[in-house]
Order: sequence, then C-alpha cells, then structure tokens
Amino acid sequence: MKSPIIKVRDLKAGYGETVILEEITFDIHPGEILVVVGGSGCGKSTLLRHLVGLQPPLSGSISYWGRDITRMEEDELGRLLHRVGLSFQGGALFNSMTVGENVALPLEEYGIGDREQRRILARMKLNLVGLGDQGRRYPEELSGGMKKRVGFARAIAADPEVVFFDEPSAGLDPVIGAGLDQVILELRRLMDLTMVVVTHELYSIRTVADRILMLDGGKIIFIGTLEEAESSDHPRVRQFFLRQPDRGIGNRE
Ligand SMILES: Nc1ncnc2c1ncn2[C@@H]1O[C@H](COP(=O)(O)OP(=O)(O)OP(=O)(O)O)[C@@H](O)[C@H]1O
Ligand SMILES: [Mg+2]
Repeated sequence: MKSPIIKVRDLKAGYGETVILEEITFDIHPGEILVVVGGSGCGKSTLLRHLVGLQPPLSGSISYWGRDITRMEEDELGRLLHRVGLSFQGGALFNSMTVGENVALPLEEYGIGDREQRRILARMKLNLVGLGDQGRRYPEELSGGMKKRVGFARAIAADPEVVFFDEPSAGLDPVIGAGLDQVILELRRLMDLTMVVVTHELYSIRTVADRILMLDGGKIIFIGTLEEAESSDHPRVRQFFLRQPDRGIGNRE
C-alpha cells in the first residue's frame, strides 16, 4: 500500500475550554474514500475543519505528504491547501453571485487564469457534476440537490488532490442523495481523488465508503471497512450499522 496522504496523530480539538475530540489518530490513503460517521454534534464538522487547517488543534499533529500543517506559516499552509478542496455542510454558496462565479471563486483566490479562462474552467467543472448549462443562474434558483452539486464543482474547481465533503446528502430526498453518491464516485474516478465524506446516511456509506471512521464520545470508536463495522463487537458500532432504517442513532430531525 502507498504511504498515507494525511496522518493525524493524537489530535485534541475543541472550543475554548471545551474539548470536543481527543486521542484522534488515523491515516488517509491515496485514492480512498473515507467516510466519517457519528451522532449529531459528535464533532464530525469540527474534525473536517481541523483537517483543512481552518481551525488549529489544542494539541497533536496533522501531516499532509509528511508536512505538519499545524506548525506551518500561513503562506505555506495556503500553498498546500491549493491541493485540497472543501464542500461545506450548508453549501456556503454566495447568493449574490452566479453559479459559475461561485465555482470560479477558488480559481480567483489562487490566481489561476484570467476571467475568461476561469469562466471556462468553472463550466468544465459544472459539466462534471451534471450542471454544465446552469452557470448563469443564481443559487437561489436551484434545488437543494443542485446546490450541493455546485458546492462539489467549487470544491474541485482548482483540481485538488484531496476533497472533503460535509454531509453531501443531508436533508435531501434519498433519490437525489443517491445521485450525489454517484457524482462522488464519478469525480473520484475522473480526477483520481482522495476523499473524506461526512454522512450518516447508511445507503451513502454502502455506496461510497472504502473505509469508515466512527466518532463517539469525542473519540474514534471504529475505523475499518463496512464488513468489519457490521461484524464489530462494539455496541455503538453495531447499533449504528445494524439499525433499522430511520430508527437508529445518528438520524436527525
Ligand atoms: N464555533 C463553535 N464554538 C463553540 N462550539 C462549537 C462550535 N462549533 C461547534 N461547536 C460544538 O462542537 C460540538 C461538535 O460540533 P460539530 O459541528 O463538529 O458536530 P457534527 O458532528 O458535525 O454535528 P452535525 O451532525 O449536527 O453536523 C457541538 O457540541 C457543537 O455545539
Ligand atoms: Mg456537522
């Protein structure tokens, strides 16, 4: 097996005095889709924000290609994060900008191309998520599933090597959610991506996960394949993976 892209070692994370995550140690391997699961509020988004350098840990290290991002100067971190894409939980699209302009934002931020080139690159990425003809519309004119796809297109705009998706299918109709799972698999195939996907939808996990990392009580209680999860002895892991649809922990609202 190739060496990991990302190594997380003894990460402790929180807000002020409150510790949300601790003793977090795991690797992310090139080309894999690692799915992060756990109940609402357990720290999945917090983990993602740390992994992309948006939030500094209380302690521990996060290394990309052997370099610890928690000790980097801002400009070095900025350069490294060009190789990383992030699709936020809420979509985080700017309503005052067109879909195309939203997708072109990372290109602008990284100084890639001129305006016209960025427009074309954004259109190519929109094509990849099945929205090639939607670039001139505004986010509020799109459905929830389409907005998520725009978020995907923006996350991959600058050709990252690693992409993080926070709850791509939350709040969506299962059929639309299943469509997004296919987009995730297709993007990995086309762009040779490594992906970290936060979800608690079992059907998404079954479709996209190479490995699953489960958080509970601020710690990793499981990391491994779906098969291993389903035969785990850990009661919380069993409860999550062998639950009846719509009844177990982790289902919200
Ligand atoms: N900016 C913040 N300041 C203080 N506490 C926060 C902040 N963001 C999150 N938290 C707290 O950290 C904990 C973990 O939140 P986080 O958003 O990481 O959970 P999550 O697993 O992503 O939940 P969900 O499934 O609902 O998205 C929660 O108790 C939350 O209240
Ligand atoms: Mg979250």
